[in-house]
Amino acid sequence: MTTSPTTRTALVTGATRGIGREVARQLSAAHFTVFVTGRDANLLAAVRRELGCDGLATDLTSPEAPVQLFAAARAALGRVDVLINNAGFNRAKTPLTGVTAEELDASYAVNLRAPMLLAREALRDMAPRRSGHIVNVISSVVHARLENYSVYTAMKHALHGFAGCLIKEARLVGVKVTGVYPGGVNTSFRANPRPDYLRPESAARMIVECVTAPADVVVHELTFRPMVETNF
Ligand SMILES: NC(=O)c1ccc[n+]([C@@H]2O[C@H](COP(=O)([O-])OP(=O)(O)OC[C@H]3O[C@@H](n4cnc5c(N)ncnc54)[C@H](OP(=O)(O)O)[C@@H]3O)[C@@H](O)[C@H]2O)c1
Repeated sequence: MTTSPTTRTALVTGATRGIGREVARQLSAAHFTVFVTGRDANLLAAVRRELGCDGLATDLTSPEAPVQLFAAARAALGRVDVLINNAGFNRAKTPLTGVTAEELDASYAVNLRAPMLLAREALRDMAPRRSGHIVNVISSVVHARLENYSVYTAMKHALHGFAGCLIKEARLVGVKVTGVYPGGVNTSFRANPRPDYLRPESAARMIVECVTAPADVVVHELTFRPMVETNF
């Protein structure tokens, strides 16, 4: 796919469902050329058909996947202007006494290592152009202390710490960094629907607003919640 020099491009992870799929849709509607990724090849094919965009099905659990994914996106798009680090999961609400080393490793790989390596690849690509935007979808869980959420909370706290350092490093080379801290969003993230939570379209709109903000604005941190949530 050839990208015109004036069209902005975006790599969106976790674009097969939920918030990421809506971000890809809304960026595409805003005339971005998007590259989408997720694990489920059938869902990914459906998103690609709908948006007429490129993509790659990949499991970010593997240590090689983030670098290979970024290279594929860069090859398809020509350059990556925006990285939306959105893929993530919280497999279960588990008391610490039930947490296994495998569970910890899997959460680390997808919720922390993958976004860090993708951000590294993006920064290497963006720095010479002195432009670009890296968005890390974190969670309002960093503002809360919840029983049975220790693994997910630990990874999102670490991602929050990383994102803060990245804001400083990327600023030096003209690259914007945004940490997004959504409260509950009604997606397949949970086993049961939560109609009282935010619609994924609404959460995506807040993310797209950060990416499409005026050129002289960088949104460093954005926290938003459904009205039912009180973790503040
Ligand atoms: N929903 C909420 O209440 C909420 C609140 C705060 C923050 N967040 C954060 O928002 C982000 C998106 O969540 P969501 O609610 O949209 O969840 P979702 O509907 O479950 O979607 C998660 C996305 O991440 C992808 N993903 C999961 N594991 C992956 C892996 N190993 N390799 C590659 N891709 C993987 C999924 O791909 P496949 O489906 O193809 O496997 C899917 O596209 C996550 O980082 C989550 O922590 C969510």
